[in-house]
Amino acid sequence: MSVDLFFAVPLLVRDVEPAIHEAIHAKVSAYLKSEGARRDVVPSPEESVTTSYYHPEASILQDAELNELEALVIGAAKSFIEDTLKLPPRRLEVERAWINIFEPGAQEAQHTHDGSLLSCSYYVDAPENCGCIVFPDPIGARRSYRQFTQTAGPDLLTRADIAVAPAPGRLVMFESWLPHAVQCNKSDKPRISIAINLREAPEPAVAESARARAGDAKPAHAASSPVPSTTGEHTRSDGKPFLFNDLFEIHGNIGIDLQPIKDEIPTVVLDNLLKHPDRVRDVIGSTPATNWKHEPGGRNFVDYYDCRLRFPIRHPNSLISVAQQAISQVYGITTRPADASVDVNWFMQIDPRRADFAVPHSDITEQVRRSYTCILYLNSPDECSGGTAFFRYKPTNSLTFDEGYARAVKDDSRIGETGLDYWPEATGEHWEIVGTTDMVPGRLLIFPSEFFPAAYHHVDSFLAFPRLTLAFWMVI
Ligand SMILES: [Fe+2]
Repeated sequence: MSVDLFFAVPLLVRDVEPAIHEAIHAKVSAYLKSEGARRDVVPSPEESVTTSYYHPEASILQDAELNELEALVIGAAKSFIEDTLKLPPRRLEVERAWINIFEPGAQEAQHTHDGSLLSCSYYVDAPENCGCIVFPDPIGARRSYRQFTQTAGPDLLTRADIAVAPAPGRLVMFESWLPHAVQCNKSDKPRISIAINLREAPEPAVAESARARAGDAKPAHAASSPVPSTTGEHTRSDGKPFLFNDLFEIHGNIGIDLQPIKDEIPTVVLDNLLKHPDRVRDVIGSTPATNWKHEPGGRNFVDYYDCRLRFPIRHPNSLISVAQQAISQVYGITTRPADASVDVNWFMQIDPRRADFAVPHSDITEQVRRSYTCILYLNSPDECSGGTAFFRYKPTNSLTFDEGYARAVKDDSRIGETGLDYWPEATGEHWEIVGTTDMVPGRLLIFPSEFFPAAYHHVDSFLAFPRLTLAFWMVI
């Protein structure tokens, strides 16, 4: 005879080395005294807990620089997935991390972390009697059966719930669906924990072929005159290579803001994305850019410099991943990068500008079903002006690429973007500005590519330094 146990619920409890815990404890204590904590750690409106959970843009792991905790949690999660659940290996990342402070008397009602893969609590401060984390038996039918048949008992098979006592340096990890609650803190000191949700990191596929965007696939000619260097203070001369993901490292847990323009254009903005905006500006600003759209009879290198820097990207690429997640979250569409590279548009005026904006255009191509344009502003705060404008094509009264516009461009090439001139002609006849998104350092702007954007310059800013925008496209 044999009796097997089925439907087990895994729960990981691990006590980290005291030296690591001490380092984490010191960083959290310093963080809690900081300006950021004063802003982000607030009483929860629903619980008696003080938490940074209500500030989605705050991430305790980043704000308190808890790299060791992040590595420790990812390592434990990998073991949980592969060794305990016997699932194939996968890349994991922190989806969200926040701090919870349970003052004496505080407790937390039962909840789940649905939507994530794994969740955990790490205990920074856990005085005696500060309240256990309690997991009720998640099989509802069994719970009521135990009550009805009075067969609840102390054995693992008959218990109504499992309580895990917190301890300083203890990590408790579980699948995110598992309901849990926190008992009342009956000590006279605060109980401080860090909650972390984990998810599978997306691995975007590399596009097979380069995208044949209008004016985007022309061979680069050698520059006929040197491109002016940027302002002296940004010059960086070490000339060392860099890994794209290192220089363009991004903040985790970025708030995704749907900021539709006049309720008509569903633009999405992710602010403060870059961890090292100054370093990015230094490198981009001190790297010579070659010409782009340098055509016979064109105005490039006559009254402006319209140049490009192209960076090959290898996956996983965090910038692509964050765009992919934002598009999936806002538009409900799974995309892949159109190209295995990203471009920096390096634009500088030689003469005063001839319009408030560049030629409105649409980035759609026939090769893809859907496309999203992603633009990351790279200028420093003191250099930012204007941004990106969006337009209505007046003859067809359309905000998006349509037949009428396509026909008109065929008939009169000056309406479309030919690459011969940066500034448009006869704008009033064709274009009405609908709204603008401001250029903000480290801001990622995303919008469906069928709309009509253009670089927006309301002042002559870019005579002394270049306008720097990184662009890539996500498609299906
Ligand atoms: Fe929780």
